[in-house]
Amino acid sequence: MPTDTLPHPEKSPERNSGELIRLDQVTKRFGDNTVLDHLDFSVDAGKHVTLIGPSGSGKTTILRLLMTLLKPDEGTITVDGQKLFPASEKERREVRKQIGMVFQQFNLFPNMSVLRNITEAPVTVLGMSKDEAVERAKGLLDMVGLADKCDARPAQLSGGQQQRVAIARALAMRPKVLLLDEVTSALDPELVAGVLDLLRDIARSTDITMLCVTHEMNFARDISDQVLMFDSGRVIEAGPPEKIFSEPEHDRTREFLSAVL
Ligand SMILES: Nc1ncnc2c1ncn2[C@@H]1O[C@H](COP(=O)(O)OP(=O)(O)OP(=O)(O)O)[C@@H](O)[C@H]1O
Ligand SMILES: [Mg+2]
Repeated sequence: MPTDTLPHPEKSPERNSGELIRLDQVTKRFGDNTVLDHLDFSVDAGKHVTLIGPSGSGKTTILRLLMTLLKPDEGTITVDGQKLFPASEKERREVRKQIGMVFQQFNLFPNMSVLRNITEAPVTVLGMSKDEAVERAKGLLDMVGLADKCDARPAQLSGGQQQRVAIARALAMRPKVLLLDEVTSALDPELVAGVLDLLRDIARSTDITMLCVTHEMNFARDISDQVLMFDSGRVIEAGPPEKIFSEPEHDRTREFLSAVL
């Protein structure tokens, strides 16, 4: 797979330093359900962090807070030095431009061609010229193995193909951060490996900071610098994958891993 079309140059760890994402004492409630409870964690630029934990533990809520789709009830969230709340809508928009998100259900624009799905935001949000956006989109489609699907509609693609388009669409914005929420959970088993291989390649060959929710533990082990185990809105254990997967300290982590591994 060619990597010269990737939006970032060769991985260069020395350029990546410092904190890109920080949550300080973040609390999020829905009614009387406290979903995140004074949560603290940070992610350094260029790192790949995986969030694991049981259903309902607040993983998606964290990604939605980072996308500014939700507002925390307490605490602060900082992305690349910019606080998300309080902030002006313009400031939040600038932050959102740096964050790409890929969802479980692809969420492609159904009435647009594959190519247009990828060029739309770079043109309308970043102000990229149409020609440049098309050229980049074609490069990205080539990278995800779908160069021949430019004119197809999402409904004409398999789930795995749609998810690869969604990944290309996120990368087209040249994000600093890629948020991935169970991106293979809705796929037929035989399509999972292709999408995970693509993400491994992106992790290996770009500087993009990745925050990933997944139940694919082998994938998490391969790509993660750090794994955070969530339970009831808190990080109960964090560490490198070899530690979390091989020598977890918490009973709750052991219990969770024995259920998913
Ligand atoms: N918009 C909402 N309104 C009310 N409750 C919500 C809303 N979004 C999430 N919740 C609740 O917040 C809790 C955490 O949800 P979240 O989606 O973050 O969990 P998760 O860890 O991603 O779970 P899963 O592994 O099943 O995706 C759940 O109890 C959920 O019901
Ligand atoms: Mg979720």
